[in-house]
Amino acid sequence: MTAPTISTLPYDRRDRQPVMCYPMPWAPPQDRTAVASLMGLGVPAPGQPKAMYVHIPFCKYLCGFCPFVKYSHDEGRVEQYLADLKREMTTYARTPYLSSVEFGSLYLGGGTASILTAAQLDDLLGHARSAFRFAPDAEITLECSPITVDPAKLRAARAAGVTRVSFGVQTFDDGIGQASDVAQDGATSRQVIEWAQAAGIDSVSIDLIYNLPGQSAEQLTKDIDTALSVGVGQVTLFPLSVMPHTKLARDVESGKVDAIGDLRHELDLCTAAGDHLKQRGLTQTSVPDYSLPGVDYRHARIHFADYQDLLGLGAGAMGTVGEYTYVNVAELKRYHELVTEGVPPVNAGQKTPEHEKPRSTMAMGLRMLSVSREAFADRHDGARPEDVFGPLLASLEERGLIELTDEDIRLTDLGALFGYDVAKEFYSPEIRERGQRLAERLARKRDVVDVGLGHRSE
Ligand SMILES: C[S@@+](CC[C@H](N)C(=O)[O-])C[C@H]1O[C@@H](n2cnc3c(N)ncnc32)[C@H](O)[C@@H]1O
Ligand code: SF4
Repeated sequence: MTAPTISTLPYDRRDRQPVMCYPMPWAPPQDRTAVASLMGLGVPAPGQPKAMYVHIPFCKYLCGFCPFVKYSHDEGRVEQYLADLKREMTTYARTPYLSSVEFGSLYLGGGTASILTAAQLDDLLGHARSAFRFAPDAEITLECSPITVDPAKLRAARAAGVTRVSFGVQTFDDGIGQASDVAQDGATSRQVIEWAQAAGIDSVSIDLIYNLPGQSAEQLTKDIDTALSVGVGQVTLFPLSVMPHTKLARDVESGKVDAIGDLRHELDLCTAAGDHLKQRGLTQTSVPDYSLPGVDYRHARIHFADYQDLLGLGAGAMGTVGEYTYVNVAELKRYHELVTEGVPPVNAGQKTPEHEKPRSTMAMGLRMLSVSREAFADRHDGARPEDVFGPLLASLEERGLIELTDEDIRLTDLGALFGYDVAKEFYSPEIRERGQRLAERLARKRDVVDVGLGHRSE
């Protein structure tokens, strides 16, 4: 596939903000003790496996391009935070609902989850296992920054139950990496992938960023070849976002780094990378992910394709439990106070209003490229997507963004290129407006931390 000419592009900008949950949390809890009942935690409800996300908001090196909530590493703070996390786990695990369900995946993300020492990781995973019930073949992912691992830590992670690692490689190209302030060089990235495999962690995934300053399609496809040559099974492609208040944004503004490629260049790079990955035998499995045959990413499947709970734990973590979607407080002191009180450390959340539910099914499902008619009918009293979204579906089909088949509603190649834009077409006007207001707040303030997407570095 080649990128369509600019005159035929369906949108004049491209939404880079992934669909994480719908509707996004907005309501501050009036009474935190009521959150458990809003989540439906009082009643046991075993069913399909659920997913768990644990956020580790510390980094060894604060990369100049990265806007995520994170704090620089300090051993005392990490120890306190881990004690708080375990307390949060214990509080939830005591509830009839969360003690009755089985988890099919646990994702330790960040920040940098691999900043934990081998002993801390073992202790945290041990606590999670004793508090909750995990499927015998549960997927346990450790998100790693290459500069924080060595062979011994990766062996210890495997022994502690880690089955999958995801490395934030960004690029293997040293010139491009230095200009963008990537912490490690390409040789280190290759080395850690080999260490992970030698440690017995078979499933290795990497993040690559495209449209980095000065990056060409050749450099990007070479990055892909390098990844595949060392046995990576899944590649996640992120278009660079130059977020306000990052070092990268300042460097671009002052002219210190080459200009970032425009939308057309970004789309060309995305298309070149996607085509190359497909030629090399990978399949696109979600808007950003490509996988070799047989490589599963259960965590995403459980939450986005099977529409099962994501129990988000830790400062700034996002989750959906029952019909309640929430984001935790991101500020460590406040997080500590709340978990010490034994209440859910939720900063904002709400039960999904009835009229938003079919919108949620479409927006979440399209992140995984398609929504099955069967899943839609199961979730909405036998309805067909056309019954609820007739004119919108017809218009998206006409614009070449989706295909309506007997089995599902699926993104076309063009639709997948604008995957989050298409998914967000199903957002209600109220939720769009809230999203817009949040983006404006983020752009204005240096220190917005409690929105789950905040900018914060210390
Ligand atoms: C929250 S980070 C955690 C990964 C891990 N800390 C690491 O860097 O190795 C997840 C991924 O987001 C992506 N990311 C961070 N900042 C970005 C930006 N400004 N634009 C595009 N992608 C970005 C990177 O690919 C990064 O690996
Ligand atoms: S990219 Fe990863 S390691 Fe770098 S600052 Fe962001 S979260 Fe931390």
